Amino acid sequence: MVTLPGMYSDDDAAALYDVLNPWALCDDFYLSHVMAAEAVLDVGCGTGMMLHRARQEGHTGRLCGVDPDTASLRRARVREDVEWIEDRAEGMDFEAEFDLAFMASNAFQVFVSEAELRESLTAIRAALREGGSFVFGTRAPSARGWERWRPENATEVVDHRGRALRVEHRVEEVTAGTVTFTETIATREGEVLRVDRSTLRFLNADEIDAQLAATGFTVAERYGDWHRGPLTPASHNIVTVARAV
Ligand SMILES: C[S@@+](CC[C@H](N)C(=O)[O-])C[C@H]1O[C@@H](n2cnc3c(N)ncnc32)[C@H](O)[C@@H]1O
Repeated sequence: MVTLPGMYSDDDAAALYDVLNPWALCDDFYLSHVMAAEAVLDVGCGTGMMLHRARQEGHTGRLCGVDPDTASLRRARVREDVEWIEDRAEGMDFEAEFDLAFMASNAFQVFVSEAELRESLTAIRAALREGGSFVFGTRAPSARGWERWRPENATEVVDHRGRALRVEHRVEEVTAGTVTFTETIATREGEVLRVDRSTLRFLNADEIDAQLAATGFTVAERYGDWHRGPLTPASHNIVTVARAV
């Protein structure tokens, strides 16, 4: 990751994330699961939007968000009636405390290496009570969504401080199962303020199921969109409701 000193801080980037990612259909899907569960763990909670909304909607049980990003958690912490923990998924050491764990906005794809994926799923399984659910979505590799992550598809946005910006993506490398890309935040005049590099893992449904089976889950429900439609070769999303067994 490259951040040009003083140009666009981590706190600015976290605030911009919320501007770029307003409430969407997938969030209704996750919220329905959250509101139906007593104790809820949001893995990769980012700025905390989902658990904020759950409290606002009247959730009275335990809500806990975990994320390694300090600036995102600073935003999350504006609500003090939710537990916020700065950690990576694989570092969590909960023991059978939650009825639901979820990962919204394709956060599941941040588990890139085999070890990180396995250790994270193991920690999520350990956090759940027997019969608890793990709900997450990932981008279907067959849809090759990264092919649209190109500068000509940039988003023009006005950030939280009223600055007119352009956010563009550029893929650097595609390997079997991973995509490495940059996100560039620039002024509309083209002055680059910040560049972040990320790698995401793309697993197909069979690979997801094998990882889940190896870590103590069975797949209870599988969808290809946020309306609970079936997974087909044309689906852009793989939506999974797994059960801790
Ligand atoms: C695409 S964002 C999704 C944030 C939030 N779930 C949402 O719906 O807006 C992915 C999040 O995963 C977090 N993350 C990255 N590596 C992680 C890890 N190893 N364990 C848990 N979270 C991680 C990032 O800091 C980031 O906040």
